[in-house]
Amino acid sequence: MSKWLAMALLLSFSQANAQIEKEKNVKAFEFLSNADSKKAGKALEFKKGAVVSAHPEATAVGVEILKKGGNAVDATVAVKFALAVVYPNAGNIGGGGFLIYRSAKGELNSMDFREKAPALASKDMYLDANGDAISEKSKEGHLAAGVPGTVAGMVALHQKYGRLKWAELVEPAYQLATKGFKITKQQANELNRLQNKFKQFNPLGTVFIKQEVEWAAGDLLVQTELANTLKLIRDKGRAGFYEGEVANFIVEEMKRGGGLISKEDLKNYQAAWRTPIIGSYRGYKIITMPPTSSGGIALVQLLQSVEAFPLSKWGHNADSTVQVMVEAERRVYADRAKHLGDPDFWKVPQKELLQEAYNKGRMANFNWNKATPSSEVQAGEFARKESEETTHFSVVDKDGNAISLTTTINTSYGNYVVVKGAGFLLNNEMDDFSVKPGVPNYFGLVGYEANAIAPNKRMLSSMTPTILEKDGKLAMVVGTPGGSTIITSVFQTIVNVIDFGMDMQKAVNAKKFHHQWLPDRTDIEPDALTPEVQQKLEAKGYTFYKRSSIGRVDAILVTKKGIYQTGADPRGDDTAGGW
Ligand code: DON
Repeated sequence: MSKWLAMALLLSFSQANAQIEKEKNVKAFEFLSNADSKKAGKALEFKKGAVVSAHPEATAVGVEILKKGGNAVDATVAVKFALAVVYPNAGNIGGGGFLIYRSAKGELNSMDFREKAPALASKDMYLDANGDAISEKSKEGHLAAGVPGTVAGMVALHQKYGRLKWAELVEPAYQLATKGFKITKQQANELNRLQNKFKQFNPLGTVFIKQEVEWAAGDLLVQTELANTLKLIRDKGRAGFYEGEVANFIVEEMKRGGGLISKEDLKNYQAAWRTPIIGSYRGYKIITMPPTSSGGIALVQLLQSVEAFPLSKWGHNADSTVQVMVEAERRVYADRAKHLGDPDFWKVPQKELLQEAYNKGRMANFNWNKATPSSEVQAGEFARKESEETTHFSVVDKDGNAISLTTTINTSYGNYVVVKGAGFLLNNEMDDFSVKPGVPNYFGLVGYEANAIAPNKRMLSSMTPTILEKDGKLAMVVGTPGGSTIITSVFQTIVNVIDFGMDMQKAVNAKKFHHQWLPDRTDIEPDALTPEVQQKLEAKGYTFYKRSSIGRVDAILVTKKGIYQTGADPRGDDTAGGW
C-alpha cells in the first residue's frame, strides 16, 4: 500500500470515527437531558411521533422505525423485541401482555397475548397433601411458567396492522443481542442481587451469571443464544419460536426442571383479539383492556366511582381526594377478587360492573368520618347466568395511530429460568392465578373460583394499557407495570391530568398511593402525603404503609396544538424519544 493511500485511509477512518463519536455524544446528550427533564418534571414534546419505554436503547429503536416510515404498530413490534434484549427483567419473549390499538381514523382494537396454563396444569397443582399452598412453586422455577404469548401476539399484530417488513422489525433486537448493550446502574444492581437465584435455577449456566466480579454499570451484555432465537423469529415468524429448535429447547428445559409446557401447548398457543372496554370520564372517552385483564373494568369502575366528587377543588393528594379514591379502590378490588377471570372460562359480569349507577351506589355508604373496614366491604352480587416485573410502553406515529402496550414475565426476571440454548427468561405468571381461594398471590391479591387454575386457561391480570380520546381525537396513551398497583397508578395518572391539570411528565412524577381491599391498608410513596393529611386520615382509621415506589408510568399526552407531550417515569431508566 502506498504511503499516500495509507494516509488517506487513516484520515477517512479517523473522520468516520469522529463522526461516530459525535453521534454517540449527541445520543448520550439526548438521553442525559431526557433524564434531567424527567427528574425536573419537564415534559418533552415531539411533532411527528413519540415512543416512551423502560429503556433508552428500546426507545431509540422505536424512534428509528418511525423515522423510517414505520407506523405505530411497526415501532411497537420493534420496541417489544428490543426490550426482550435490553430489559430482560420484564421485556420478553418468554411472557405475554396486552395492548390497546387506536388507528388515526379512530378504529379501536385490543389484543390479549397473555400466557396460558399448560394443558397439564390442574386446579390444586400448588397445594401440598394437607391442601396448603406451597407458595414458592407458583413463583419460582419451571413449574411457575405459563405458555408464552409474546411472539404470537406480535406476529398477529403485525399481520393485521403493520406496514414495514417483519424481518426489519426484529433485526434491531437481533443486533442488540449479538453486539451487546451497556447495562444501566439499576440493571447491574438487580443482576447482582439475583445471582443466587440464577445459579439455583440454571445449573448449566446463563449469561446473567457473573462468576468472580460483580456486574457494574456500563458492562456489555452480549446474549448469543438469545440472538440465535431472535434470528429464527426474524426469519420464520411464529414458527421460529413455537416450533423447531426453540420449541425443543423449551421442552428440554421443562424436562430438566419439572415444568409442564409441552410441544402441543406451544403449537396451540394463539393470541386473542378482544373488544376494548369503553368508558367515559369528564368528557373523555376511556378505551381500555378487557378481561383476561381486570385492569380496564377496574379502571372504569374507579373513574365512575369518583366522578361525582370535586377532586380538582380539593386538590392533588388532599385528604378528601385521597379518602374518596381509597374508598373507591377498596370497593373495586373486592369486585375484582370475586368476579374477574379469563372470559373464555368464566362469565364475567362485565355489563353489571360497568353500570354507572352500580359504582356510584357502592360509594353511597362510605362515611366521611371513618374509614370503611375492608371486612365490611364485599363484592357486588349479580344474578349469575350459566355459562414486580412488568413493563409498559406507549407509541404514537405521525398519522396519529397509537398503541398502549403492557407486557410481563410477572415478577422481576420471571421464574429465573433462562431456557438453555434459547437464551430467554421464562415467566412465573402461574402465580397470578388464585392457587387456593383467599390465598394471596405475590402482590397480595386474593381470588376465588373465577380465577382458579384450569388447563389452557389464562391467569387474571391487572395490566391496564389505556388510550383516551377527547372530541373524537386521540388524547392520551398511558400504562404502567406494578402488579396490583397498575390499576391505581393508571387511575391516578389520568386524574392528575384531567382533574389537576398536570402536564404529562408532572402527572407521571406525582407521588402515588394505593389500596387493594385486602390487605386493609393504604400503600404510599415517600412524600405522597403531607404529615397533616396523613394525620387527618389516620384519625379516621386509615393505616398507611410506606413503599419505595409505586408504578413506572410511560405515557403520551396530545396537547391542544396536536403536539405529542411525553412522560417517562423517573422511577426507572424510562426514556422518551421522538421526532
Ligand atoms: O399481570 C399482572 O397483573 C402481573 N403479572 C403484573 C406484574 C407486574 O406488573 C410486575 N411489575 N412490577
